[in-house]
Amino acid sequence: VDVHVSLSRVGQLAADVYQQLKEAILDGRLAAGERVPASRELARRLAVSRNTVLDAYQRLTAEGFLVGRVGSGTIVAAPLELRPRRALDRSALAPRPLWRALARAVDVGSAPRATVAYDFQIGAPDPALFPWDEWRRRVARELHGRRRVGGYPDAAGDPRLRAAIARHIGLSRSVRAGADDVLVTSGAQQAFDLVGRVLLAPGQVVAVENPGYPPARQAFLALGAEVAGVRVDAQGIEVDALPERARLVYTTPSHQFPLGTAMSLARRLALLDWADRHGAAILEDDYDSEFRFDGRPLEPLQSLDRHGRVLYVGTFSKVLLPTLRLGFVVAPPSLMPSLLAARRLADSHGPLELARALAAFIDDGLFARHVRRLLRVYRERRQRLLAAVERELGAAVVALPSSAGLHTSVWFRDRALDVAQVAARALAVGVRVEPLRPYFCDGARPRPRAGLALGYGLIAADRIDEGIRRLARCLP
Ligand SMILES: Cc1ncc(COP(=O)(O)O)c(C=O)c1O
Repeated sequence: VDVHVSLSRVGQLAADVYQQLKEAILDGRLAAGERVPASRELARRLAVSRNTVLDAYQRLTAEGFLVGRVGSGTIVAAPLELRPRRALDRSALAPRPLWRALARAVDVGSAPRATVAYDFQIGAPDPALFPWDEWRRRVARELHGRRRVGGYPDAAGDPRLRAAIARHIGLSRSVRAGADDVLVTSGAQQAFDLVGRVLLAPGQVVAVENPGYPPARQAFLALGAEVAGVRVDAQGIEVDALPERARLVYTTPSHQFPLGTAMSLARRLALLDWADRHGAAILEDDYDSEFRFDGRPLEPLQSLDRHGRVLYVGTFSKVLLPTLRLGFVVAPPSLMPSLLAARRLADSHGPLELARALAAFIDDGLFARHVRRLLRVYRERRQRLLAAVERELGAAVVALPSSAGLHTSVWFRDRALDVAQVAARALAVGVRVEPLRPYFCDGARPRPRAGLALGYGLIAADRIDEGIRRLARCLP
């Protein structure tokens, strides 16, 4: 390894080398068993005499930090006690107050969640269902790179993928778009951010569903926008409750997040009409509507829109994997140049090899086949879940109607129920469920109500009955 050694004190060169290597060993940057540079090599790099380095190595060896091995050079001995290295704790730098608040509020997802026997976590598809072999083959083909030209590709994403997405959503969702209307993004999340950047000046109002998807509203808060939570009823976001000043309305019409209901056609038309009258834009987040289990799919807002007010966002996080970070936004031509500029300035573009692999995956018909397979698996899980909820929890909850997606939600009849406590008791018996409370906006109407979201992305069908039985036993 190339260890960084800085020599500062003339006349103490060996002491410098000794001290800095010792620090590196003690704080774990140089691990036990790692080979340190040959003395001749390090001396050459530092422009010191070989004896200087040998002096330092001898001292470190005598103190037990290094061992000389015949034939394999000098290696780091097992350290006595590691002192983890940290960035300076007392830095003069502080984030802006807004970002200090966001650092407390945003779930940065660093700790992997412990596995539980009965996992009703929402928002997560089953990685065991991912077509690993077919995906690997397509990625491998892209990594040959024989025909690759150099330079930075288009910020809008790979042209073949843009065309494949336009075709796919044109057929499956009747979204009206050509390849040029599609901007490939790093997940739906980046689309929220880019759209917010291009449309919202600091202080302008964005309306979001309450309850709703926290990472979307937090992305708008991060841009200095004022976020207004708006109630949702059985038909979707309440258009009459939208703030007059809203410049953007963020909504999940196919499968309201987290309640699971679908926005009625009447409400869709009313929302479009409202946006038109108020000069506002609509951000339609269609995050999991590939999974539709019954009923006729309703037209997306994008295809009902006659005035170019809708930005339609989709993601591959649910059908494929959230870790691929592949999503897209379909935007009216008036916004596309600015969105492209925003993407270029944010991170230039996404990983091209993955984009091309996905384009091939869609074009070869594998994506559609994969969705059909997932539908069969998730349909069974969903039916089991709905039946188990009815049987085991029917007296305590009201199930919300939902016909799409990877989760369903319930309200508790007892509005004062401490749902966090129920969830904690459930976790203690191996069942993970999500209270709806964290999805409500702070301080907005309606006040949080006792409810649970139940996901079937991760749990196998034959574990659902027992999981819900255990959950039922956790109710007071
Ligand atoms: C409402 C909603 N929108 C979008 C997403 C997908 O986000 P991304 O594409 O950034 O993974 C999720 C994922 O949980 C979601 O629940």
